Amino acid sequence: MRVLICPDAASAARRTADLLCEHVARRPHAVLGLATGGTMEPVYEILRERIAEGSLDLSSVTTFNLDEYVGLAGDHPQSYRATMERLLFEAAGIGPDRARLPDGAAADPAAEADAYDAAISEAGGIDLQLLGIGSNGHIGFNEPTSSLGSRTRIKTLTRETRDANARFFDEGEEAPRFSITMGIATVLEARSCLLLATGEGKAPAVAAAIEGPLSAACPASALQLHPSATMILDPDAARDLKLRDYYEMVHPAGGEAPL
Ligand code: PGA
Repeated sequence: MRVLICPDAASAARRTADLLCEHVARRPHAVLGLATGGTMEPVYEILRERIAEGSLDLSSVTTFNLDEYVGLAGDHPQSYRATMERLLFEAAGIGPDRARLPDGAAADPAAEADAYDAAISEAGGIDLQLLGIGSNGHIGFNEPTSSLGSRTRIKTLTRETRDANARFFDEGEEAPRFSITMGIATVLEARSCLLLATGEGKAPAVAAAIEGPLSAACPASALQLHPSATMILDPDAARDLKLRDYYEMVHPAGGEAPL
């Protein structure tokens, strides 16, 4: 696992965007796994800027988002489909045939989840998966105690997750209770994973993911099994890491290893 501790949250977002852009420059037809959440918004802002200035072309990529709320159709403003349209797909010119999310309004959400997992395989698998982390250690909507062998499926959200996401919904509107999320095993099949975490609210979950036991109690710890996982952190999110000096020696300021 590569642990990159960047000087601040802005440079962590930039580092994430840089790694994604380098990947797409090498593989213009890459299959990208995308994530929503407040942490990712600065990353998408950077990508939109690069698209506008002509230094990034995402028009040939295929994308699969991690998750979607059950019960929200794609035209609901808080659906992850609508959120991704606003944050990236419109600017990138990626149509719905290649910008994929589970359909939260599917009549049979379980069948939709199975079909989504199959669609990822049919596309050749995910080359690069972006991930956030919940303060409870979730990745996607794989809440604590999710099976480390789980596939894309329906998952009930914890109270903590619903409360954290309530800020995106109008007052009086209930945050959804269920999601369709890629499973942990689905995520681990991506050829590389990039997890971005900023802010001290994430510090305990980040430490558990990187240095804690491999455990369904912290779903992000499953990344310890991945041969190519990179954790990109700001100093606040890195606060509780015991081996912080080591990570900073290997990757000064979150940069490449000085070999
Ligand atoms: P956040 O969400 O970026 O809004 O904190 C991250 C996550 O829950 O994966």
